[in-house]
Amino acid sequence: MIHPFSEYRALFPILKTTVQLSSCSQSALSLPVKEAIEKYMTSWVSDGMDWESWMEAVEGSCAEFARLIGAERDEIAILGSVSDAASSIVSCLDLTGSRKTLVCSELDFPSLGHVMLAQQARGARVRFVESDQQGISLDAIKRAFDASTALACLSHVSYYNAARINVQTAADNARQNGALLFVDAYQSAGALAIDVKEMGLDILASGAQKFLLGVPGIAFMYVKGAVARQWEPRNTGWFGRSNPFSFDIRTLDFSDHAARFNTGTPPIICAYAAQAGMKLLNEIGSRSIDAYLQHLSLVGREEARLLGLAVAGPIDPGLRGSVISVQISEAAKVEKAMKAAGYIVSARNDVIRVAPHFYNTEDEVVCALRELSKLVS
Ligand SMILES: Cc1ncc(COP(=O)(O)O)c(C=O)c1O
Repeated sequence: MIHPFSEYRALFPILKTTVQLSSCSQSALSLPVKEAIEKYMTSWVSDGMDWESWMEAVEGSCAEFARLIGAERDEIAILGSVSDAASSIVSCLDLTGSRKTLVCSELDFPSLGHVMLAQQARGARVRFVESDQQGISLDAIKRAFDASTALACLSHVSYYNAARINVQTAADNARQNGALLFVDAYQSAGALAIDVKEMGLDILASGAQKFLLGVPGIAFMYVKGAVARQWEPRNTGWFGRSNPFSFDIRTLDFSDHAARFNTGTPPIICAYAAQAGMKLLNEIGSRSIDAYLQHLSLVGREEARLLGLAVAGPIDPGLRGSVISVQISEAAKVEKAMKAAGYIVSARNDVIRVAPHFYNTEDEVVCALRELSKLVS
């Protein structure tokens, strides 16, 4: 297949010398993101302080995230991490009654489990939904919800083996049981097409560092308008007020919108980067990116099969994201050796994740897998 986005490769200087396939951890730096960060630095040097432009960047980043996932701007909160977003939602829950079960799975990023487990001190019961190499089955998703479930926190795509859950089924079951569903989209936003309205989701969060082409230190959380208004987070701060700049210490007036989940000063410099990264993604279109990444994933999996590499996670393309997780002992050492050979990939426990983005070519994916096979044999 001819690379459909080849003209964008010049925007990613690292690609001239290195094969970067680490979008599940940190994607490649693009010139627009670099320029956005420099804009912040330049304004700091020349203007000293520019709240107006800072707030424009914060607004702009939230607007780009809303566009990427098919939400309204008012339905987006801005936080420091996905862990913060989950903590903020969990902090709304009253866990003293009969609805005190918090659900997650072993395929979720550990941080999310930690947020749930930390609630045991205030009465929560934590349940891990069953999963296997094929991910979380529809039956297991259904069983996750009952009259005792307060919240389930599930990854759209697993950080470990790229298993993808059927979020519509999870959302339907959550609603039927009066529970909340928090979708962790950190491994899917920017790689898969997401439309929160079509998918019937109430809450979805992602950070900017991975497929969103940005930096760590910033996360966005979609909370559907009507749902947001029902909840008052205990984790709060001045940016969660209806007017943060009223400086009224005695009044806890929650914003009418998802901004009620904001806490302190937003991660402004990160917002410059996030806005530029997502602007680029929105310009290209997440449906085209999704289709291309599914193609790269098929090519990579076929190559891995020919090389005799063991790929973790579901076989069915409908049940997985685009990352190719190769099972390997001493993955951290192999990651370093791959880097020395000019390939940036990402190790987690016993897997090396080969995570292309739209700027990568078939050839890069194939050559990385051949190098990996050479290193492990
Ligand atoms: C799916 C997923 N969720 C959450 C996280 C953690 O995000 P944060 O550090 O923003 O809390 C990661 C990090 O790799 C992740 O892959």
